[in-house]
Amino acid sequence: MTKFYLTTPLYYVNDVPHIGHAYTTIAADVLARFKRNQGFDVRFLTGTDEHGQKVWKAAEAAGKTPQQFVDEIVGRFQSAWQTLGITYDDFIRTTEPRHEKAVQAIFGRLLKQGDIYKGEYEGWYCVPCETFWAEGELREDMEGRKLCPDCGRPTDLLKEETYYFKLSKYQEKILKHLETHPESVQPVSRRNEVYQFVKQGLKDLSITRTAFPWGVVVPDDPKHVVYVWFDALINYISAIGYPDSPDFKKWWPADVHLMGKEIVRFHAVIWPAMLMALDLPLPKKVFGHGWWTVEGQKMSKSKGNVVDPLALAAKYGVEPVRYFILREVPFGVDGDFSMNSFIKRFNADLANDLGNLLSRTLTMVEKYFQGQVPSSKGHEDKEMTELIARIPADVAAAMEQLAFSDALGAIWQLISSANVYIEKQAPWSLAKKGETEKLAVVLSTLVQALKVAADNLTPFMPATAKQILTQLNPGGEKVAKGDPLFPRIEQ
Ligand code: MSP
Repeated sequence: MTKFYLTTPLYYVNDVPHIGHAYTTIAADVLARFKRNQGFDVRFLTGTDEHGQKVWKAAEAAGKTPQQFVDEIVGRFQSAWQTLGITYDDFIRTTEPRHEKAVQAIFGRLLKQGDIYKGEYEGWYCVPCETFWAEGELREDMEGRKLCPDCGRPTDLLKEETYYFKLSKYQEKILKHLETHPESVQPVSRRNEVYQFVKQGLKDLSITRTAFPWGVVVPDDPKHVVYVWFDALINYISAIGYPDSPDFKKWWPADVHLMGKEIVRFHAVIWPAMLMALDLPLPKKVFGHGWWTVEGQKMSKSKGNVVDPLALAAKYGVEPVRYFILREVPFGVDGDFSMNSFIKRFNADLANDLGNLLSRTLTMVEKYFQGQVPSSKGHEDKEMTELIARIPADVAAAMEQLAFSDALGAIWQLISSANVYIEKQAPWSLAKKGETEKLAVVLSTLVQALKVAADNLTPFMPATAKQILTQLNPGGEKVAKGDPLFPRIEQ
């Protein structure tokens, strides 16, 4: 069996999960389920990034020890993923011994081989982004404060003893890799950004901090803790038993690292350099999806507009949330979340297109054929039959590109065509005219369309797909019409 190893980023536990975290995780879950259905041996890893100054500060603000604090928040992530139907195979916390051991071993090895050296860091640091910045990269506000070019918040000036990782040494190798493996960073806009960034020149990276005590302790120099990104990136190999476990050989390299666009640089520059230093193969693909705004605004705690995926799921159901976020916006570009567009899609795509197709079809099977799905007996409708046959390949092709929205689009093309087919064929008048043979063809075609739609919908909306299949009851004697799948949301 071919293996497929996919990962999400490890989420910072300074705060509870929001729709942005859910986005990456749901996308990964759909891909994992899809690959499992295709017969791949899948390993789906997610987890939490628990060290660093941001988490340490959040714990302090909450009046808790960092360990207490992270232990509480990690549960919120795990239960959110359970509610949202996330089928991860492993959940790694960077505070676990299995991870810390790997970080220390790697630090020791790279120090010994000269890829890590001691020095002094003087420069700027953005705590919310956990990122070092050079003076020239910063923006300045009216009061002369130095702002992070990524998040726009004020940075801190640091002057600390530090260990450096020789990132500069890998510049040419990384460029070469991007040239020979252009598919390794996607979408192509992200790959080009990374390429330009590396081309401008890489500086060695400060990889330890001394200003606070919350991190993996540097072996033999305990006043240093490892920089949170250097620590966290290692999870992708520590979780599968780097260096010695047979599992490690089985799963590495990762087939895809999924993440938001703002952290592609860490995964497509720093991470490959670390792997090169360790003589390990590079991940096959790093994919950076777009960002959600909310009702046109940047999502932020201070604006009070953070979308809670659990509240949304509690009100409208888990699967409409999974559907909406993967359908509304092509993976890879930015999108806007608004209640209006959520409700519009719910009513149009789920309640109307899908829900009505199922209930109309089953009602007619009950009314005209006593609940027994008729056979089309060699009189298939050519156009519909061809469309039905094509959908699985269309979905698979879209999934290969991580084009979740296109995959759903293909399924909805089938659903819409089936609805149009009902209108055109008007089964009720066929019944009136006594054209039973034609009526049988129409209804069996519709049942077939629904079955294929449900099969292909399974990774996205597993419970819905199952419900459709239960109602269609293939192989059973009679259909089992149930409650409407998605009662309309009345505003
Ligand atoms: N801890 C690092 C990742 C380390 S991986 C070795 C980190 N964590 S994070 O909690 O800030 O969030 C990571 C994920 O959430 C990213 O994939 C990010 O893009 C996603 N999102 C956070 N806000 C988002 C939106 N508003 N929209 C879409 N996704 C966003 O970075």
